[in-house]
Amino acid sequence: MQDSQLHQIQKQIINSNYGFSQLPLDKDNLENIQNIINQNKDKYETIVILGIGGSALGPRCLQDIFYNYKVEKPKRFIVLDNIDPDYLTSWSRELNLEKTLFLVISKSGGTPETIAQFWYFHSKITKLQLEIQNHFWFITDPVVGFLRKFASENKITVFDIPQNVGGRFSILSNVGLIFSLFMELDCEKLLAGAASCYNNFCNNNPENLTSFKLANLQSQESKQGKNITVMMPYTHRLKLLGDWYTQLLSESIGKKLNRDNQVVNVGLTPHGAIGVSDQHSQLQLFVEGPKDKIIVFIKVNKFDNKITIPQIPNPEHEYLSGVSFKKLLESEFLATRESLNEAGQSNITLELDEISEFSIGYLLMDLMLSIAILGELYNINCFDQPGVERSKILTKEFLKKS
Ligand code: PA5
Repeated sequence: MQDSQLHQIQKQIINSNYGFSQLPLDKDNLENIQNIINQNKDKYETIVILGIGGSALGPRCLQDIFYNYKVEKPKRFIVLDNIDPDYLTSWSRELNLEKTLFLVISKSGGTPETIAQFWYFHSKITKLQLEIQNHFWFITDPVVGFLRKFASENKITVFDIPQNVGGRFSILSNVGLIFSLFMELDCEKLLAGAASCYNNFCNNNPENLTSFKLANLQSQESKQGKNITVMMPYTHRLKLLGDWYTQLLSESIGKKLNRDNQVVNVGLTPHGAIGVSDQHSQLQLFVEGPKDKIIVFIKVNKFDNKITIPQIPNPEHEYLSGVSFKKLLESEFLATRESLNEAGQSNITLELDEISEFSIGYLLMDLMLSIAILGELYNINCFDQPGVERSKILTKEFLKKS
């Protein structure tokens, strides 16, 4: 890709002022939701998200990166993003509804799975003669949709998802922020990291930007048939980032039509893996299998905890004796990357100094920007999802027929 083309794409993205790129600047919103949460948080033991797709994956990913690693976990956080009757039944058995707040999240405000879950728990709350206003908050489009209407008719607390922010780009909106504030994450830093990434994006040469390097590699390699992107962080804390990225890449880039309405059927297939665990389940395929993938490593330079393998009396294990787990993990990462290089398998490494709200905000913005760049490179609209909408419409039709 020529430099001038990359600069053109950068300019195009900056001029478009995409909704997701502006979210980190909304300090007033953060202050407002922080105040509301401060006034209410002590009422609840459990916070449950009812939502699906982009309304669930972002908050769940933040929970897994941060909350699950806290020493003190004063509340339970649950994301219910399926309608499997066994799953819903078993989770609802665990809830003390008197102390539960449901965050019903849906951009459209009408997704059947989320609406079905809402009415299911609404009926349980009303049967207990509890006030619905105390047990449901909505996060939805500022104007349209069932949730918005129901909230105003029933005095339910409701928060906006800006109109120009779609589900899979909403992690830095109220979708991710409200859950994160209940988890006592530092959302100011999360947004500051994202803002810093966007600022760098606007003020640096594309050749120096991770978002461009990643998107360029994905698009160039896909021309050689490498259509699979394997996201492989070398930290367990980013395992669910793979799920979030899976949706982002699948729905944004998998498109039938380009912007000129020509049938192109483009797409990149995301795949999740985790270092070191998947060295023992998937690496064989990555090294010796078809050359149809690129591996995106995420390497963390500093871990919160320092632990060391003790001195081992067994001479067979002397090589492990006194070695820190960080060193072992890093050596395995370097070895894995080297083995891929030797086999001629494409890969790229994204580095994080540490896992903090700032660095994760930065990474999330980088990955969303890389998707916007891919949208330009493929000349497609990466912000719609006609394939998903179609299934929503068909679900309603099948239900009416049966
Ligand atoms: O990225 C998207 O827009 C979709 O995948 C949505 O997140 C998903 O369909 C859920 O939609 P909603 O948030 O409108 O309930």
